[in-house]
Amino acid sequence: MSAASAQENTPLDLAEVYLRSNEPVLDEVDTTLPVVEGTLPPELRGVLVRNGPGRMEIHGQRYGHPFDGDGHLNRFEFSPHGVAYRNRYVRTREFLAEESARKILFRNFGTNIPGGFHKNLLRLRFKNAANTSVVMHAGRLHALWEGGLPHRIDPHSLDTLARDDLGGALRNDRSLLERWMTPELPYSAHPRKDPDTGDLYNFGVVAGRQPALMLYRLDGAGACVQRERLVLPAMGFMHDFTLTAHHRVFFLTPTAFDLPQFLLGLRPPADTLHTRPGPTQILVLPRRGTQVRSFTARPCFIFHFTNAFEDGPHIIVDAARMDRLPRAGVVSKQLQGKPDELPNPRLTRFILDTRNNRSGRVEERQLSDHGGELATINPAHWTRPHRYSWSIGSPLQRRAPFSTGLLKVDAETRSSLFRDFDPHLTGEPIFVPRPHSRAEDDGWLLAMGYDPHHHTGELLVLDAADLRTICRLHMPHHSPLGFHGTWIPA
Ligand SMILES: [Fe+2]
Repeated sequence: MSAASAQENTPLDLAEVYLRSNEPVLDEVDTTLPVVEGTLPPELRGVLVRNGPGRMEIHGQRYGHPFDGDGHLNRFEFSPHGVAYRNRYVRTREFLAEESARKILFRNFGTNIPGGFHKNLLRLRFKNAANTSVVMHAGRLHALWEGGLPHRIDPHSLDTLARDDLGGALRNDRSLLERWMTPELPYSAHPRKDPDTGDLYNFGVVAGRQPALMLYRLDGAGACVQRERLVLPAMGFMHDFTLTAHHRVFFLTPTAFDLPQFLLGLRPPADTLHTRPGPTQILVLPRRGTQVRSFTARPCFIFHFTNAFEDGPHIIVDAARMDRLPRAGVVSKQLQGKPDELPNPRLTRFILDTRNNRSGRVEERQLSDHGGELATINPAHWTRPHRYSWSIGSPLQRRAPFSTGLLKVDAETRSSLFRDFDPHLTGEPIFVPRPHSRAEDDGWLLAMGYDPHHHTGELLVLDAADLRTICRLHMPHHSPLGFHGTWIPA
């Protein structure tokens, strides 16, 4: 047995693998990736861009939460010459200031400025981590972070071009107090595109005495042509929303922040986030206007939705459902390689009967016994009925949500296909339809992975129909798997 294969057969501790995969990215490179398995499909042409925290520390000072890591972009360009790879950090003004000072200067979602509460008292200028996702719309690539402005990125060089307030739409024009608390309106990392009109819908949650939901629509040319404000009954944690042919759907899960605690600088927001009593309230709004229909579901917590659509009088919403919000501190334990206590979400279908919104009963159906998160579908089915979804997943017997595999779920038959790459880790898959395809699952899945034997990142190209590996490429360095990415067809 060769030394290499002996190394590859040694069982690895997944917590250790997870920790190593999250070591900081120290270099920014431009290279062509070697194919280490299979062959690149010649019809696969375009660019995959991914975003995620590239480092969880600055010069030895650790951030307090995985969501606080500095935004780091990976770009993979599929061309006749192979796959060109490039990575760059997003140069936000906070990133540049902290790099220059070589220490933490700003608060963040789960990080206070070191030095005690007086250093954080009424400090409401948070670092825009620009680390959550990327969206290409109207020829502009934005790196997104839900607490602040999008950053415009050059789609080729990955240079950070500008903070973008969308022509002033993200300037807060309300009272002095509200402008002091939130001068720039939040713009979530999960915009949803209407495949018919090309419009991009998004939202942001504004904290304050009167918490509010900001609702945006950008037309196909990128202009913000609709901005609405909906006062919320409570300030919770809302990361994503979903869109149907006629509606916008928001889940107000029973979560709450302790506003005085973080205003006074005693704790960062994430440490004050907690479960409150009560059910999940589902808010259904038309595409235009803020007339709300409310539905009531069991208490739960949801980071991500898969898709939503209308089926006669029913609104169908697929999501990765957790029984409850992860307790404060549990998510941060990931940074110490202890994610065992994190809830393992289950892909779940919520069925809302619009004929029965007074009693508000919502039916729930679990779609797979596997844990699943970061689900994707064929983009032709956004806002429309879909049958298949693909997500990161974990084997049935594993409690901890280590993402060592990819899961394909058939919502029609409620059957699952799971492919485990253990001890390799896998990130969010992106579905790319094969040119001229007809079948919903005729395409490729692109996912970044982590190869613990070589301590490098890898790029997987799988057949979306059966999860067979079409091609695997090695990256020249390791890179945390990040959160979300986007595919830009050639
Ligand atoms: Fe997300």
